Amino acid sequence: MPVTYRPVTMDEFDQFDLAVVRGFSAHPDPNPLFKDFARRVFEPERSVIAFDGETMVGTSSSVPFEMTIPAEKTLRLGGITEVTVSQTHTRRGILTGMMKQQLEAHHERGEPLAALWASESVIYGRFGFGLAVIHEHREIDRRHTAFAHAPEIRGQVKFVEKADAQEVFTPVFDRVCDRFPGMIRRTDLGWEAAITDFDGMFRKAPDLFYVIYEVDGVRTGYLMYRILHSVTDGHADNKVEIHELVAENDEATAALWRFCFDTDLASTISVGHGAPVDDGLQWMLSDPRRLKRSPYDGLWLRVIDVPVALAARTYSEEGSLVIRVEDAFCDWNNGTWRLEGGSEGAICAATGNAPDISMSAGDLAAIYLGGAKPSELARAGRVEGATGALGRADRMFATARKPWNVVDF
Ligand SMILES: CC(C)(COP(=O)(O)OP(=O)(O)OC[C@H]1O[C@@H](n2cnc3c(N)ncnc32)[C@H](O)[C@@H]1OP(=O)(O)O)[C@@H](O)C(=O)NCCC(=O)NCCS
Repeated sequence: MPVTYRPVTMDEFDQFDLAVVRGFSAHPDPNPLFKDFARRVFEPERSVIAFDGETMVGTSSSVPFEMTIPAEKTLRLGGITEVTVSQTHTRRGILTGMMKQQLEAHHERGEPLAALWASESVIYGRFGFGLAVIHEHREIDRRHTAFAHAPEIRGQVKFVEKADAQEVFTPVFDRVCDRFPGMIRRTDLGWEAAITDFDGMFRKAPDLFYVIYEVDGVRTGYLMYRILHSVTDGHADNKVEIHELVAENDEATAALWRFCFDTDLASTISVGHGAPVDDGLQWMLSDPRRLKRSPYDGLWLRVIDVPVALAARTYSEEGSLVIRVEDAFCDWNNGTWRLEGGSEGAICAATGNAPDISMSAGDLAAIYLGGAKPSELARAGRVEGATGALGRADRMFATARKPWNVVDF
């Protein structure tokens, strides 16, 4: 029987939820909070579900978001999630079928971008997703956290009650969100997920602590973290696990790191995508080699509508570029596009001119937020162009801050 694809309705949510949990090789969690939250986030009309006869054999859904794009602008984005294929039906093209329909649906709804967190980095390049946001796991031994250089810390760190955290943190987050390409704006449901920390709850980690940094009553940064308790040979060996360290200036960044580093009875401090990779920490430390850094892929971005997305951002250098885009999966993007851009805005339209640079839709996604440089991708044989054109593309697509996103979906 051929596999068919359609959205499900809310009446089919239980079946959908079980398929997703099983598809990720997990077991349904007895805590009803998980399923209740998944139900409230789920938008059935944005799902593309695969059926073999009556049996649900593939799942995918999408959450509408706004993402910050360079510089300090936003664009509509579909956050594709809950992608699974039943173990009884893998490697028969079902993900390919669902993804085709998802991307077409995003195009029809006028969402120029889509993004996802990938369970494995080998899966999504074939569908035109590019590695646009790279995060780092950073960890340091507390004995080696002295600062050699840091902004003066004039303010005060204060604990915040869980019930107040969203209200206190939201204005800081919103201001920081504007500055980082790749940041997804947080809705109330997003705040609920961040403050509850479902991932931590799933692995039975202790509750988070919530902290704000303020100078003369002005709040400029916040921290969510937990302590993982441990005792080795009778000595406290606790680990400070940072969930989010969000700061709107260098002073707040240094103050919140210092606060974590000054945790008595702790031996290590670690963070993943809860803090931006270019926050300057290694340059503050007197012993930077002690900071262990390990990059990992964060958001994979899909440019659904090339001319709309290219015209929506601004560019760090005034200039024009003719870009040939190959897109085997979304053929409406296939073509040669003339981009004229600068700090005030851009226009982009199809052209018959010869291209300055050529690339796949996935590589365009990788450079779109300013994460990868076109010349770097050219070194890997992914982007083609003369040295002058690649240099111009590097300068035009460059961003003040590296892409970052803390919102999980
Ligand atoms: C990842 C998953 C959705 C793939 O579904 P699928 O229906 O088997 O994928 P398709 O058959 O459409 O595969 C398309 C291509 O991708 C390749 N591929 C798919 N998943 C892959 C994986 N995990 N590792 C390596 N290659 C993979 C296939 O081999 C195929 O390659 P081909 O075109 O050269 O033949 C499925 O294996 C799954 O549910 N995994 C567990 C949950 C998960 O990781 N979901 C992704 C969440 S981000």
